[in-house]
Amino acid sequence: MSFSVKTTPVNNCKSDCIVLGVFASEKSKPGNALSLPNNAGLLEKECRISLLKAFDTSEFSGQVGQTVVFHQPNEGIHKVILVGMGKQSQLTATTYRTSTDSYASAMVKIGVKKVDIFLDDVVTDGFSLSQQAQYCAEKITHAFYHFSTCKSDKKPLLLPKVQFHISSTVKPAGIKDALMVGAAVGNGMNVARELGNLPANICTPTYLANAARQLAKTNKTLSTTILSEKQMADLGMGSLLSVSVGSKEPAHLIIMEYKGAAKSQRPHVLVGKGITFDTGGISLKPGSAMDEMKFDMCGAASVFGTMNTLVDLAPKINVVAIVAAAENMPSSTATKPGDVVTSMAGKTIEILNTDAEGRLVLCDALSYAERYNPQTVVDIATLTGACVVALGGHATGLFSNNQQLAQDLLAAGQHTGDRAWQMPLWDDYKKQLKSNFADLANIGGREAGSITAACFLSYFTESYPWAHLDIAGTAWLSGANKGATGRPVPLLTHYLLEKASDAENTPEKKVDKVMKVAKASKATK
Ligand code: BES
Ligand code: MN
Ligand code: ZN
Repeated sequence: MSFSVKTTPVNNCKSDCIVLGVFASEKSKPGNALSLPNNAGLLEKECRISLLKAFDTSEFSGQVGQTVVFHQPNEGIHKVILVGMGKQSQLTATTYRTSTDSYASAMVKIGVKKVDIFLDDVVTDGFSLSQQAQYCAEKITHAFYHFSTCKSDKKPLLLPKVQFHISSTVKPAGIKDALMVGAAVGNGMNVARELGNLPANICTPTYLANAARQLAKTNKTLSTTILSEKQMADLGMGSLLSVSVGSKEPAHLIIMEYKGAAKSQRPHVLVGKGITFDTGGISLKPGSAMDEMKFDMCGAASVFGTMNTLVDLAPKINVVAIVAAAENMPSSTATKPGDVVTSMAGKTIEILNTDAEGRLVLCDALSYAERYNPQTVVDIATLTGACVVALGGHATGLFSNNQQLAQDLLAAGQHTGDRAWQMPLWDDYKKQLKSNFADLANIGGREAGSITAACFLSYFTESYPWAHLDIAGTAWLSGANKGATGRPVPLLTHYLLEKASDAENTPEKKVDKVMKVAKASKATK
């Protein structure tokens, strides 16, 4: 896929496919008073007239996300996708994104080689042109992924060349960068989706370890270390190992280090839950929809996807990814309810429910993170069904012991549309984790399930700023469109890119820049 930006008017009105945003009538009753966005002025007048005529005869009312395709509206244009953007006065980031989602799927359906997109406009809630371009590239890249690895027909989708047209008042350089970032984020999401969608008989902990080795092999900025069960046992990771002990598949602790900045710069750490299949263990899950527990490694997948995006964009930052990969199975060697294990941190845990396994692998991975002296640690996990009940599929649950970190992640979600919502992590909830036989129980009863899960993790993260993202509701879709979503790769990438640019613009460096300017002006006097 290639993305480019164009500010010059379109000559001769020739295109394989034009995507044109259309605003609905501002009047309450939909009439034919549709209008075109600003940059449609880049199309020749004759061209605009023929397009306006085309939708004059259609049922098209310009509602948000509505699409209609015209074939050969005039000589030089093969196809036109009209996409409704709603009323211009009500154009927000959300409606803009909905319109983008719709035309991206329409593009896939009709199959196009080259596309010219005319969709930029002023958005009421400050969704900038570069955000619009970034989302466009991300969404189109996302739309052109489909899972074919396990199908006998592996025909790939034909990827189009995309030209994003903008009004000439804007500098195209920033938009070009935005398109590049969007494409890298879209690719990262697709990496996460592919790992998520792979069945658990292929995507085992060992498969994930090899995927990390592969990523490091092809990229100099990335290195990988894989810890075996023996090495984890030597580190005292009794909690993590209690999850894999019932499975033939050995667990792995997968570490990927992205080095984009000086060694002295402390890293940001991402920790992913990588349960490649969660049967529940001896606390066996009910059978219905159990296939979806192959997605229980989507936290790990999002970490892989984000590392992929970082490698593509090469920001000046150090990031360490830690993936706790294991399979949760019942067997004669499996952990039993009531078993007590000792975590790497030394805390003993009574495993009252073997289906609360995510926190058991994460707590040891989070203790391991300490050795990197991290600036921040963010874990990503399909941790609780309770989070799906609380927030559904729209928002990721966010928990943190540091409000600045929480704000940064919330802002990254808001900026990219990959949103999170903060939940409390109050001491009041911690009482629910009391055990008569160990330091901690691994479950906290029926109430506030996603909060008590986060509280459990909080005992292992006291030495650094930490946030937990519960993606149980956002990581995959069920039903007819069953499949991994690639979330929260956009949120994580934006968070890290912001951190990289903060580091670039430290107060010292700002002063340094000012001094240089001052020296330069003195020199010219
Ligand atoms: N992987 C599941 C959480 C999950 C369930 C995510 C359904 C998405 C959809 C996790 O390991 C789990 O089983 N959690 C239990 C915890 C309970 C035993 C305290 C849950 O949510 O039921
Ligand atoms: Mn479970
Ligand atoms: Zn699980």
